[in-house]
Amino acid sequence: MSKKIESHLSEERVFKPSKDFSKKARIKSMAQYKRMYRESIDKPGIFWGREAKELGWQKKWTKALEWKAPYAKWFVGGKINVCESCVDRHLKEGRANKAAIIWEGEPGESRTLTYRQLHREVCNFANVLLAKGIKSKDRVMIYMPMTPEAVIAMLACARIGAVHSVIFGGFSADSIVDRLEDCQAKAMITSDGGYRRGGVVPLKENVDAALKKYKALETVIVHQRIGEIGAPVKMKKGRDFWWHEEAAKVSSHHEPKGFDSEHPLFILYTSGSTGKPKGILHTSGGYLTGTYATCKYIFDMQEDDVYWCTADVGWITGHSYIAYGPLANGVTQVMYEGAPNHPDFGRFWDIVEKYSVSIFYTAPTAIRAFIKAGDHFPDSRDLSSLRLLGTVGEPINPEAWMWYHEKIGGGNCPIVDTWWQTETGAIMISPLPGCTPTKPGTATLPFFGVDAAILDETGEECGPNEGGKLVIRKPWPSMLRSIYGDKKRYRETYWNDYPGMYTAGDGARTDKAGNFWIVGRLDDVLNVSGHRLGTAEVESALVAHKVVAEAAVVGRPHEIKGQAVVAFVTVKGEVKTSDTLAKELRNHVGTVIGAIAKPDAIYFAPSLPKTRSGKIMRRLLKELVATGKVSGNVTTLEDQQVILDLQAQLQQ
Ligand code: WT7
Repeated sequence: MSKKIESHLSEERVFKPSKDFSKKARIKSMAQYKRMYRESIDKPGIFWGREAKELGWQKKWTKALEWKAPYAKWFVGGKINVCESCVDRHLKEGRANKAAIIWEGEPGESRTLTYRQLHREVCNFANVLLAKGIKSKDRVMIYMPMTPEAVIAMLACARIGAVHSVIFGGFSADSIVDRLEDCQAKAMITSDGGYRRGGVVPLKENVDAALKKYKALETVIVHQRIGEIGAPVKMKKGRDFWWHEEAAKVSSHHEPKGFDSEHPLFILYTSGSTGKPKGILHTSGGYLTGTYATCKYIFDMQEDDVYWCTADVGWITGHSYIAYGPLANGVTQVMYEGAPNHPDFGRFWDIVEKYSVSIFYTAPTAIRAFIKAGDHFPDSRDLSSLRLLGTVGEPINPEAWMWYHEKIGGGNCPIVDTWWQTETGAIMISPLPGCTPTKPGTATLPFFGVDAAILDETGEECGPNEGGKLVIRKPWPSMLRSIYGDKKRYRETYWNDYPGMYTAGDGARTDKAGNFWIVGRLDDVLNVSGHRLGTAEVESALVAHKVVAEAAVVGRPHEIKGQAVVAFVTVKGEVKTSDTLAKELRNHVGTVIGAIAKPDAIYFAPSLPKTRSGKIMRRLLKELVATGKVSGNVTTLEDQQVILDLQAQLQQ
């Protein structure tokens, strides 16, 4: 851990926004940032109240914040319809005919929805949901490709007060079952398929497989994305309905009703260090205020911007920075269905050029893949429309930062390295592009209202360059409200380390200028291509296979993905190990969780290194896969030969 930090600390290059950028930016100077930051911390009600007011409430709140740690209520007594704020409001504010979503499908087709058209579609689909008996607080699963309909489905749920839970299209049928059961979903919105790297992802087929195990689901609505090209999907009578057929039966008028500010908006599942994924619960008024304000100040969204976030709606980035934040700002955004390398690594830059994208938000893992693919891809496109770049998901290595800055930004776009989490709902630590001096590798300073600190084990604040745990000391509007159905796990996971403070699970340190350098997770959570994956989840998937007796999963540093999954597996009794078996186990993990969880390598181990009390020593395995050997103290091991054997195996 410390090695990585030192290389960051030697980073002395400082990049400041140009005068021209600062002049037009919403926050123009560090003095302005500091003044507003002070107010946001000292008088959060006043600061956030001003932001929230811009969203158009049906009824104003009576109290900005009610905080009984660890439970926050924001804008108590207020009534808001999140969908109305994101869509209807713009019709009244002169944006009816402005493009809301410019969509490009992977095969190349393009479609634009103005705010008025988006409004029509959302109202229409809200009526479809109502006609199917979906009510306020019912849980609705969404398992769709990156089409405008995914966003329409989310907004339609919000409009009628239903709680959506989006599942990333790369997750398997088994993963769908776990989530359906956990939130007791009533309906599912899916597609016949989606395009990915030239192929078709059989989404409806996966849903059918999941519904063999979860029988309580009443309604499936299927958007037709693929049509005749894909294998014909099976429609179960009385349960499955085509989106377009149902849409034709109902009107496109719908009056949005205001919901309580704390009305649940969505549940999004994310991995933790133990057990099954946690359903992170977000609510309405505070979440929208947080995503709105961060878009406005960090992405500096202006009326004539064309914004593009390359995330999938299945992750929190897609919720906060595709669906809610940008639409609350009335910006024009690009949405792309497919893979960055289809048909080749020039695709993203083609899209930037074609639609004159001005703000671009992506992940370090994608940047590293682009670097590897070669400079001729960006070099041969006109990227001069770009004015601001962002990254999210993992620490960005300085090399990738510099390449992004020079090759994509042409040396004159500020980069906002945004640190946040599924739980935080919105960006927490990030430069403000018009004022914050940036250094490659640091997310720099806390956003308004974010009281971030780094503490040591005893709860003391760490000094500059001392590593510790990243915590947030005050509630913020877009914070998670709980883990769905499990308040105990909520308290224990996030609020147990230091009384009244949120523990992020990340290790970090600050430099002398107060910049936050995020090192990475301190728990048994991996970050694979910017996505969170619990080692315990992969282990339990492996152990569920009939030949596996025991498994230990660790992350290995990976050039492109950041971390790769590596598994050590002990098989049962007489089972013969082979490459074929390793392949079978990899695919098995893919079936149980999804392709992103497939181990890069599987090592068969006669036994695993354990302490005398029987605990697997992951620390040793981690070191072994990273360096090829174990140098540290192994005297607490029950059987030292085990690790030496593994070392020999890896060195072969
Ligand atoms: C974890 C959260 C937030 C949306 C995407 C991931 C890591 C995220 C950064 C960054 C260093 C980062 C942290 C965090 N992370 N952004 N800019 N610099 N690390 O959301 O799946 O909830 O994962 O991603 O480790 O805890 P998530």
